[in-house]
Amino acid sequence: MLRWCLVLNILLSNMVFAYGNSATTNAQITNDKCIKCHNSATPGIVKQYLDSPMTQLIKKPVLCVDCHSFKHQTADDVEEAILPTADSCAEKCHNDQLVQMREGKHNLAWFGMKSQVAYHGQPSPITGEGYRGCSGCHKIGQKGLMGIHQGYPNELESDGGQEISEYRYGNAQCDACHTRHSFKKSEAQDPRTCSNCHMGFDHPQWEMYMSSKHGIIWDIEKNDNVDGRTPTCQQCHMAKGNHSVRTSWGFLGLRIPTKKNVLELIKSAPNLEEALTSLAKYLPNGNYTGVDDDPEWVLDRAIILQAAGILDANLQPTERFIEIVVQGEAANSPSRFNEMRAEMKAICNDCHAKDFVTGHFNASDNIIKSADHEFAKAIKAVQDLYKDGILQKPEDWKYAPDLLQYYDAKTKVEQELYLIMLEYRQRAFQGAFHVSNDYMHWYGWAPMKASINIILQEAKNMREAAKTVKILK
Ligand code: HEC
Ligand code: HEC
Ligand code: HEC
Ligand code: HEC
Ligand code: HEC
Ligand code: HEC
Ligand code: HEC
Repeated sequence: MLRWCLVLNILLSNMVFAYGNSATTNAQITNDKCIKCHNSATPGIVKQYLDSPMTQLIKKPVLCVDCHSFKHQTADDVEEAILPTADSCAEKCHNDQLVQMREGKHNLAWFGMKSQVAYHGQPSPITGEGYRGCSGCHKIGQKGLMGIHQGYPNELESDGGQEISEYRYGNAQCDACHTRHSFKKSEAQDPRTCSNCHMGFDHPQWEMYMSSKHGIIWDIEKNDNVDGRTPTCQQCHMAKGNHSVRTSWGFLGLRIPTKKNVLELIKSAPNLEEALTSLAKYLPNGNYTGVDDDPEWVLDRAIILQAAGILDANLQPTERFIEIVVQGEAANSPSRFNEMRAEMKAICNDCHAKDFVTGHFNASDNIIKSADHEFAKAIKAVQDLYKDGILQKPEDWKYAPDLLQYYDAKTKVEQELYLIMLEYRQRAFQGAFHVSNDYMHWYGWAPMKASINIILQEAKNMREAAKTVKILK
């Protein structure tokens, strides 16, 4: 791509040459003015810009005005400067990378963030222009994608730039990994690049990587980002420079049951025949190769989806199913799941034997299975508290219990459910896949089990207390 860009630039500058070079010269002169004044206004930016590979392009270095336009040229018209979007990078040069990015999960990050109940009603610095919470990480996604809540129940539609225009900063997307104003490829290839977002509470991939043999050897052996003995995040997740990131299980370790899975459940749960037959209509065909189809697991997953309001009390898909699962692509169809699994295994197979790799994936899949079984038990206990009238659904909630209320959960038992969903279960399975045994067990599985014990005991106490109240009445 870079090579094409150069060829194109040479052609273009030759054309300008043939027809008179006034345009180039004007741009250069203006650019010198930008640099001169910005040498005192923002010297750091000028220094980084001059050090950028794009400035080193021999025939036609990229100029400030290519990205910021000519509109602002004095200290009094600063607000006229245009701040670039991801489309600006594509229009001028890097269309391939944008097309790939649009196909991957990063592009959906802004839409995904807004699909959450917990996003709404927060102070704006957390979710909006302040970029100091959800929005600070999720601005890697494209703004202005409209889904079911804006009247588009099928494909996502663009709002034609409306939402972007409401934000002065933070529309560039690509600068999440190629930071301004040096925009280096080598920076993007370093796993530390991913670490400001992929860390912490619910997705500590950085910490898990750095406590796995892969990360440790990367660190010991001079941080080789392209040709080391162990892979970087990028080598596993952006192989061959592909900008479309996505994994089989995804962030939440979700897998939507297939038609066949659900219809088979009817044998063991005949009382649910009507609900299951109706649910099956919405589900994909096919099967997940090499992953267990145990009916008990299917049922456990259904209970988790119910607690997230993705399936309703009657096991039917809700608007959240469409928004989060289908449009936000929080789970993959069997064919996509299988395709990505095969690609990932092939990467491991560069350095490890096939059976070794399969063993690792089976073990990690099984962690999700076991965690789901434990989690479903805890959810069931809380669902029963609602069923038996010991807990009352808050007026402004659509579903209860509702895992997606996050930390706004009202009771101790629901706070614990939230921690299991977003912290412990995540760490258990993400730690397994990233070969961090400590994250898998002591930060994941162990607190999850402890939390479930708290929930079961607390539910019992609540029942006892409710009985006493009844007797006293
Ligand atoms: C005469 C001085 C001067 C010149 C010439 C100048 N700028 Fe600026 N520019 C400024 C000042 C001052 C600011 C505001 C800096 C601040 O707030 O600290 C600014 C801000 C900016 C911003 C940020 C806008 C924002 O909303 O944050 C961009 C982008 C920018 N300039 C680009 C350029 C480009 C491109 C050129 C050349 C076409 C240029 N500048 C020429 C003085 C100048
Ligand atoms: C600015 C923050 C940010 C940076 C930097 C970042 N990511 Fe992400 N990443 C996100 C967000 C937010 C999502 C979730 C998007 C969604 O699913 O809606 C995500 C999703 C992903 C996924 C998809 C997981 C799934 O659900 O299948 C992968 C893989 C991934 N990132 C890898 C990387 C790698 C590798 C890097 C570094 C080269 C990186 N990311 C850098 C914020 C970031
Ligand atoms: C530190 C950066 C960071 C912050 C803060 C953050 N997220 Fe995320 N979020 C991520 C990353 C990274 C991922 C992808 C993780 C993965 O795939 O393991 C993600 C994933 C998600 C997903 C899953 C999307 C999918 O389809 O899989 C949703 C929804 C989400 N975040 C919503 C939120 C909301 C709402 C907030 C604020 C209440 C928030 N996030 C705060 C970085 C962040
Ligand atoms: C290849 C494109 C590109 C070039 C060339 C470029 N910029 Fe920028 N600039 C960006 C991006 C991307 C942002 C971040 C926009 C955002 O926050 O949404 C930015 C932001 C800025 C900002 C405001 C943000 C901040 O950190 O204060 C200033 C000021 C600025 N640029 C000045 C300049 C000047 C001066 C030059 C030339 C010396 C220049 N830029 C060249 C892409 C570019
Ligand atoms: C999640 C991090 C991430 C984001 C976001 C990202 N890139 Fe990259 N980019 C990389 C990595 C990693 C490489 C190095 C790939 C490789 O191994 O060749 C790269 C390489 C590149 C290259 C050099 C390609 C080559 O073959 O030399 C270009 C150009 C590029 N990216 C443009 C973009 C554009 C444009 C965007 C926004 C649409 C973008 N990138 C967004 C991580 C990212
Ligand atoms: C050895 C290859 C490898 C390396 C290195 C690696 N990952 Fe992963 N990653 C995986 C595998 C395998 C999965 C699970 C894939 C699946 O769902 O089948 C995964 C899953 C993910 C996910 C989805 C949620 C989850 O955690 O399960 C994200 C996000 C992610 N990785 C980000 C990163 C980041 C960021 C780094 C670097 C700090 C990194 N990975 C390093 C192989 C790797
Ligand atoms: C570029 C080569 C390379 C790639 C690709 C790679 N690994 Fe590794 N991996 C290594 C090396 C080297 C070690 C350290 C070997 C040791 O512990 O003796 C290692 C260690 C491991 C370990 C720990 C072994 C132990 O004995 O504790 C596991 C598990 C593992 N890798 C799984 C994977 C999986 C799964 C993938 C693909 C998602 C993968 N690796 C991709 C090179 C690689």
